[in-house]
This record gives sequence, structure tokens and C-alpha cells, in this order.
Amino acid sequence: MNFDQMRNIELRKELKKRGLKGYSSLRKAQLIEYLSTGIHPLKKTETFPAIAEGGIHVPSSENAEYSPTLLGVSTEKLPVNQILSGDCLEILSSFPDGVFDCCITDPPFNMSKTKGLGWAFSSHVTMQEQWDIFSKDDYFQFSVNWIREVLRVLKTNGNLFIFGSFHCIFTIGFILQNMFDRRIISQIVWYKPNAQPNITCRMFTESTEFIIWAVNNESKKAKNWTFNYETVKAMNGGKQMRNMWEIPLTPRSEKKHGKHPSQKPIAVVNRIMLAGTNEGDLILDPFSGSGTTAVVAEQQNRKWVMIEKDETYNQIAQMRIDELSNSLFEENVRKPQNLISHGSYVG
Ligand SMILES: C[S@@+](CC[C@H](N)C(=O)[O-])C[C@H]1O[C@@H](n2cnc3c(N)ncnc32)[C@H](O)[C@@H]1O
Repeated sequence: MNFDQMRNIELRKELKKRGLKGYSSLRKAQLIEYLSTGIHPLKKTETFPAIAEGGIHVPSSENAEYSPTLLGVSTEKLPVNQILSGDCLEILSSFPDGVFDCCITDPPFNMSKTKGLGWAFSSHVTMQEQWDIFSKDDYFQFSVNWIREVLRVLKTNGNLFIFGSFHCIFTIGFILQNMFDRRIISQIVWYKPNAQPNITCRMFTESTEFIIWAVNNESKKAKNWTFNYETVKAMNGGKQMRNMWEIPLTPRSEKKHGKHPSQKPIAVVNRIMLAGTNEGDLILDPFSGSGTTAVVAEQQNRKWVMIEKDETYNQIAQMRIDELSNSLFEENVRKPQNLISHGSYVG
């Protein structure tokens, strides 16, 4: 939707449709800002003191985040089963609205330290990745931007699963619930029984991550989301699947093509995918890393689109997918069908 080209009356109608209030005395620029951010422009500093005036990026016509020209492009034209190499915000902006059935993603957590801790007698490491270092406000803004784009390209009532640790999960949950009014269905706690010890002895040993499961619709309107209740019940020995999953860290066998510092275990992503998607669904991961989402999608007969800006990680992902595709090919089940594309996809 190109807000710049809309008249004030249309902008107000759109705000009303989205359940946003208090817009009658706003000027055009403020109406556009309200629509773009979901935050009342006159109340944002009191609501979000950490992001004072100017903190929230408002799309303008020069920098449009919505591409109405691409609306209506069919999914056949999407780069299905491909890893796209580049910045996810740029690439996502070239996709049409509402084309993905589900998004499973593991964004930067903003937990890295510029000076990491090491321990001579263990493999204990602190994350020190440049892609994971943001100021508090930049992280908030980055999260708003990518979540907004993902919600745009996801189908209405499509599932969204987002990984996070305590460093970021509250921010992400806040954005989903308060800024975009999306329905949160569950929070899954992934408990890692073999998590590395805490070497400072000043706090509990960090041994969990969280996965927010949200549905892409306003909280009151969300309906008909995919949940394969019986499948996950069967995976849990016939008992209802709970939201606390005890699954060890990524095993070495899953890292033979190269290491990614936050590679997720296939077992965790597999459970998410079987619960929240169906065969043939198209799944997006805009922070693909070593491609775990694509690997599981291949194994479970789902279609996928991966985005990752680091070429080294893309090579690892490609090798993992090739290995899987080759073994499937040898079994005469399916042909290998992936390739890394560079730059933005244009439909
Ligand atoms: C937490 S890791 C994902 C790991 C992945 N789940 C796996 O199993 O390997 C996040 C990834 O996002 C990538 N990334 C960070 N910012 C990005 C951006 N703006 N666009 C695309 N990729 C980005 C990083 O390079 C990193 O590989």
C-alpha cells in the first residue's frame, strides 16, 4: 500500500480498519507515520522513551517499503527452494504481499559482546559476531523493520515462529503484541540439558531459549491457523505436546560442513515445522544462517526461501542441502533443486 498517494480520508479509513484510534486531528504526514509504525505520533515519546522523535523509520515515497507494483505476483515466480544472498530487508521488500504460509526464523539476538569470555578447559565461548551487535534503539528499530516486512509477505493467519533468548525475546514479543497487535499462540521453552556452564558464577546457568509462536492477524481476528495436534501428540508418545522441549545443543554431526555460531538443532526446527506447517507449504527464513530451516523443509517435503547476508554461511547451507538432496536423489525420490542467488529477487 502506497500511503503517500492516498488522500487523508483514505488514510483515516485505513487506520480505522486497523483498529487504531485518535487520528481525527492528525496531519497527512502523521497519519502516514501512524499507519506505518502502529504508534500514535503524538504519544510515541511517552510510550517509548527510548526511541525519541525520529527513532522510528517512516517509509517515504523515495524509500517505499511496500511495493504495490508487485501485488498479485504469483508464487510460481518466487525464488522457491533458493538461498538468496543479501540483506533481508532489501530482499523482502521485493516480494509480493501474503505469499508465504509460514515463517520460521532465528534473528540476531543482540547478545554478542565486543569482548568475549573464553575458558581454557572447555569450549565455552561468548558470542562476538558483528551481525549480532546493535545499540538498544537500533536493535528495536531493526526488529520493527524486519517483523513488519515478514508480516506483509506472510499470508493472513499464517504462522510465525521466532527464536530468541532473554536478550531479545521481550522486545520481539512487545513489537508483535503492542505495535502490530498479532496473536501470540504459545511461547515454547527450549531447554538445553547440555548447555555450557556459567563461568562467572554470578548468575544461573543460561540453558534455555524461547520460541514465540504468533499468527499473522490482529489478535481478535486470528483464526484457522495450522496446528497439527495429532502429529505432535504422536511424537510425544501419545501425550499432548507441552511447550517445554528438552533437546540437546546442535550435535557435531550437523556441523560437518562448517560451523555457525548459533546453528539450531534439526530436532527443534523439525518439531516446529511438523506442528505448524503442512506438506507443500512455502516457508520463509530471512535469517537463514547455516540453512537449518531449509534442511528440515527438504526433509519434510515443504518448499522454502532462505535469505542470508553472509556468503560463508550460505556455502555451508548449500552443502547441507546438497548432501540431503543427493541422498534423496540416490534413493530416486527427488532431484536436487537449489541454488544460491545473489541480490534482490525481482518478480
Ligand atoms: C541466529 S543466526 C541464524 C542461525 C540459523 N538458525 C541456523 O540454524 O544456522 C542469524 C543469521 O542472520 C544473519 N543476518 C543478520 N542480519 C541479517 C540481515 N540484515 N539480512 C540477512 N541476514 C542477516 C546472520 O549472518 C546470521 O547468520
